[in-house]
Amino acid sequence: MGSISEDDIQKVREASDVVAVIGERVPVKQRGRDFWCCCPIHQEKTPSFKIDPALQLWHCFGCGAGGDVFAFVMQTEDLSFPEAVRKLAERAHIDIQETGGRPSVPSSKKARLKDICAATAEFYHTQLMRSPDPGAAKAREYLAGRGFGGKVPKDWNLGFAPGRGALARHLRQKGFRDDEMVEANVASRSREGRLRDRFYDRVMFPISDAQGDVIAFGGRVIGQGEPKYLNSQETPLFHKSQVLYGLDHAKAAMASTGTAVVVEGYTDVIALHEAGIANAVATLGTALTFSHIRLLSRHAQRRIVYLFDGDEAGQRAADRALGFIDDSMTPEAGRSKVELCAVTLPDNLDPAEFVAARGAEALSALIDGAQPLLKYGIDRRLARHDLSTAEGRTRALADALSVLAPIKDSLLAKDYAVQIAGRCRAREEDVLESLAALAPPARRDEPEPAAPGSPGPAAAAAVPDGAPLRAHGARVSRAERNRLRFEREFLSVLAQHPLLALAHADALAQVQWHRDSHGAVAQSLLATLVDDPAATAGALITNATAAVPGAAGALTAAAVPEGCSAEEVAAYLAEELAIGDAEDAIASIKALLADPAQLSPEDYDALFQSVVGMQGDLNQRRLAHKPLLPSA
Ligand code: UTP
Ligand code: MN
Repeated sequence: MGSISEDDIQKVREASDVVAVIGERVPVKQRGRDFWCCCPIHQEKTPSFKIDPALQLWHCFGCGAGGDVFAFVMQTEDLSFPEAVRKLAERAHIDIQETGGRPSVPSSKKARLKDICAATAEFYHTQLMRSPDPGAAKAREYLAGRGFGGKVPKDWNLGFAPGRGALARHLRQKGFRDDEMVEANVASRSREGRLRDRFYDRVMFPISDAQGDVIAFGGRVIGQGEPKYLNSQETPLFHKSQVLYGLDHAKAAMASTGTAVVVEGYTDVIALHEAGIANAVATLGTALTFSHIRLLSRHAQRRIVYLFDGDEAGQRAADRALGFIDDSMTPEAGRSKVELCAVTLPDNLDPAEFVAARGAEALSALIDGAQPLLKYGIDRRLARHDLSTAEGRTRALADALSVLAPIKDSLLAKDYAVQIAGRCRAREEDVLESLAALAPPARRDEPEPAAPGSPGPAAAAAVPDGAPLRAHGARVSRAERNRLRFEREFLSVLAQHPLLALAHADALAQVQWHRDSHGAVAQSLLATLVDDPAATAGALITNATAAVPGAAGALTAAAVPEGCSAEEVAAYLAEELAIGDAEDAIASIKALLADPAQLSPEDYDALFQSVVGMQGDLNQRRLAHKPLLPSA
């Protein structure tokens, strides 16, 4: 994303009267100096939403949300800050200049890709509902057989993909170009360069963004087959780790109940909604990410409940989620607004099977009884061992204690450690000592085990530039060292310049941070700015330090080199990090391609195409990326 200049942001702010903007969405009434309306964020019958025209701020006394005009658009329309600025700029007919940063996908292009996705979904839906093709008839039968007959296909815009170029022909007729279809990933090119439909003989689940626009697809084989689901790959519209299936259907219920329920499968979402549990969404075959949590916490203010399947895969997912425990979950972090909870379904059932067998009320009861993720994790670990023997208790102790590693220095961890000591009949002092001796994991979302003893969240923030990077014997390559330095510097420049942090909000959310603590600082900057887009550098740094002890030192460290502006430095670093992320992404795809036996020819082709494209883009970007900082 390009960055928007402070001047332009100011221009848009001045042209966007907060009373007028909100008034275009909901009826507002003047009472004295202020204006009031029913809160469009949490849905209510009597107005508790106040707009102050003098300060140009709003606040809801019902749900506690508040902010300026940008915050309003961000929260009601699920937009990032730059997107909200662009949206209001459009409304006010202001042309904004975007500079630096990653080359942004022009909104006209995104609109075009969305049009393709919408036309594709419509085509598939019509095929499912009306086509005499025997494949379509099988798809109808299959869905009905799973209890997805009646109005379900219409409610969820389900479809049938006949394949054999039928979609591509249809889209061409509607005036879409081949390259656009490939870019939207509804078609791909064969090795000889011929265009073919991506989805073939599958039941189609359109995937929408929070506003309900179709941005991708999941396609299920009818009956048995591999892969069971074929999903859209990443496109300019679709970033899998940031999308939740069903959010457009679920957001109203999340706001009114304060709770979000996260399940694993598309079909689980549909089954739960049909059973009246309307606040359910699913990840797209990935673990829950920070982006997901952030997205959900905009809608569900109280709890996010992760519902794990009772089968083995679900149990693996549950174990992965424990890796998600981090230092933001401690009360010290000061942002325990949304509570992350988890529950495993009994008897090998998935949520769809559970509601079918035992009813929605039983499932609601399980959801209400979900445990905080930390407690859930500890209980899970303890349950793996035989607590009736001394040996079992010793192993249980070590196992359960390791759950606390990411938050080992918090008071909460000490509380839990004492509880674990009780359950394992160990001495409190010994357990607290073992807790203190734990090595915190190096990095979230990293499948590989961390290098032994590598510095953890708090330590990482405190590692000064140029310090010997052999902390506890872990070696860090020069490239990695530079990467970490760029990350630190980027965060520091942004924390010192809140308007730049707003302009680079997308980068803050999207960078694949190589350190837990860096991700946590980025989260904190974003969270502070969402609460108050006019937050000062002081506020940003104070909050970040609450989330990551010791961060203030690193955040106040960056100095803008002579002859450069802070904007240039921020834009340079954003691009540097984006290029690094692109390199990582390419490397991981190349690793997949190195073992063609593991891939279907269809997937191999698609991956191969995308890596060629990505490599081309990357080369362009590298050429355009002029050095700014002396490299270490
Ligand atoms: P499941 O195998 O539990 O699928 O995978 P499901 O949704 O319950 O499907 P049914 O009920 O058997 O039809 C859970 C999720 O993991 C992703 C999909 O997002 C799926 O909904 N997945 C699974 C894939 O992306 N590819 C696969 O091959 C399998
Ligand atoms: Mn399932």
